[in-house]
Amino acid sequence: MVEPSRWQQIIEQDPGHSQRYIQRFRMMAAEGRDLLGEARTVAAMCAPGARVLDAGCGPGRLDGHLHSQGYVVVGVDVDPALIEAAELDHPGPTYLVGDLAELDLPARGIDEPFDVIVSAGNVMGFLAPSTRVDVLRRLAAHLAPEGRATIGFGAGRGYGFQEFVADGQAAGLSLDVAFESWDLRPFTTDSQFLVAILSKA
Ligand SMILES: C[S@@+](CC[C@H](N)C(=O)[O-])C[C@H]1O[C@@H](n2cnc3c(N)ncnc32)[C@H](O)[C@@H]1O
Repeated sequence: MVEPSRWQQIIEQDPGHSQRYIQRFRMMAAEGRDLLGEARTVAAMCAPGARVLDAGCGPGRLDGHLHSQGYVVVGVDVDPALIEAAELDHPGPTYLVGDLAELDLPARGIDEPFDVIVSAGNVMGFLAPSTRVDVLRRLAAHLAPEGRATIGFGAGRGYGFQEFVADGQAAGLSLDVAFESWDLRPFTTDSQFLVAILSKA
């Protein structure tokens, strides 16, 4: 057992949290809001047919779309309620409940590594601090030799950007390039959001 993620701690204190999160994204989708920015970045990184792992996929807002574009998508999330919603709202990809700190997809019958791993929506900020390097290590272990991970999260969530980059190094992932948004604006010292593209060191 690993230390439970901050997300799990929130759910424990507030059991309605997951359903409200699910409903919020259903409402935004119904309003026609653009929820696919990160999926477009993934699509720029690899062609249809590529294998994509969504690490902390939540209710699957990126995954159904990428699946419909011909990507082979696996989504993993620690919250069973969100995985249930992903299967309902965005069917097609393979969805699994699991903690990223213990990610072992070959043990669950998924042997092929991934061309791109995406982790959007501040997943890094919700990890239990003691598991951060392990999570990054497990992501590295699931990347193909030429694969890349793209990970986005905001400042002010208790996980400094420099610390994240250092943890990536410790986990065998080196930073190729940093942006401040999913539409790839350059990262600067003033940036309040990081979209990191990392590859195996
Ligand atoms: C704000 S949500 C983002 C969901 C999705 N990536 C998106 O952008 O729509 C953060 C997600 O991180 C997941 N998460 C946090 N810690 C995790 C962990 N250790 N393992 C797997 N998922 C985790 C939560 O369950 C939650 O779905």
